Amino acid sequence: MKKIALFNQKGGCAKTTSVINIAGSLAKRGNRLLVVDCDPQANLTKALLMELDEEPTQSIVEVMNQTADINEVIVTAPIRTRGNANPKDIGIDILPTNRTMATITPASDYVLKEAIASVRKEYDYVIYDCPPYMSEFTVNILAASDYVLVPATVDADSLDGYGELIDTVSVLQAEGINPTLDILGVFLTIYTDRESFDRYIKMQSAETCGDYFFSQTIRRHTYAKQTRLFGRPLCYYKPKSAVANDYESLVDEMLNRM
Ligand SMILES: Nc1ncnc2c1ncn2[C@@H]1O[C@H](COP(=O)(O)OP(=O)(O)OP(=O)(O)O)[C@@H](O)[C@H]1O
Ligand SMILES: [Mg+2]
Repeated sequence: MKKIALFNQKGGCAKTTSVINIAGSLAKRGNRLLVVDCDPQANLTKALLMELDEEPTQSIVEVMNQTADINEVIVTAPIRTRGNANPKDIGIDILPTNRTMATITPASDYVLKEAIASVRKEYDYVIYDCPPYMSEFTVNILAASDYVLVPATVDADSLDGYGELIDTVSVLQAEGINPTLDILGVFLTIYTDRESFDRYIKMQSAETCGDYFFSQTIRRHTYAKQTRLFGRPLCYYKPKSAVANDYESLVDEMLNRM
C-alpha cells in the first residue's frame, strides 16, 4: 500500500482535481484506492460523494478525535462512468471531511498514521488531498505518507513554496517523524504550451527541481475544470481527450518513479 500526499502550500494549483484524476486512472488500471479528504473546504468529499442522497454522518473529524473507527467512516464513492446513468463502485473509497475539520487539534503527530494502519480493507494506494497550508494536521498527513507529490501552477511565484517543502520534508526526516518520507516530484498544472510565459516557467521549474520535475504537464482545459464540478475522473468522463491523456502519462511517470 503506497501512500501519497498531494501537497502545495499554494491554493488553487489543482490538488483536488489531480487527486480525482490520478485516483481515477489508478482505479481504471485495476487498483483499489482510498482517498482521504484533509481539507476543511471538503471539495474532494463534495465532488466524489455528490451522487449520495445524504451527506455522510461521520468524517475524518471523528477519526482524528478518536471517537470513531476509521473502518466505519470510509465510504465507497459512487462514480458515473461514460454511458452509464447509474453511478457505481469503480474502486475508489473515501474518508470524507466537513467544515468542522478546521477545529481539530490532533492529539499527536501520528493519529492519522495509526488510523490508516488500522484500515482493514486492502488498498493499493492511499491518496491525501491536502489543504493549502502547513499545520499540525499537515504534519499528521506527512507522517502518514510515503511520498509527497506537488502540483504547481504556472505563475511567477509557482515554486515559492517548493524550497519550504524540501525543508519541511528534511525536518520530518531528521526529527524521526517520518524518516522515509520522499518527494515523488513536481508537475505543472493548468499549463498552456503555446504561451511563451508558460514555457519559460516550465524551463525554470525543470532547472529548480532537477530530477524531481515531471516532464509531463497537465494542460489548461475546460474538461479538467469539470472534474470537481461533476465528480468524475477524466478517464471515465472524457477518456479520449488530450487532458485525460496528460493525466494518464503523468500516472505512467509516477509509477515508474515509485
Ligand atoms: N487543467 C486545468 N485546466 C483548467 N482549469 C483547471 C485545471 N485543473 C484545475 N482547474 C481549476 O482550477 C481551480 C483550482 O483547482 P483545484 O480546486 O483542484 O485546486 P486546489 O489546489 O485543490 O485548490 P485549494 O488550494 O483551494 O484546495 C478549479 O476551479 C479547477 O476547476
Ligand atoms: Mg483542494
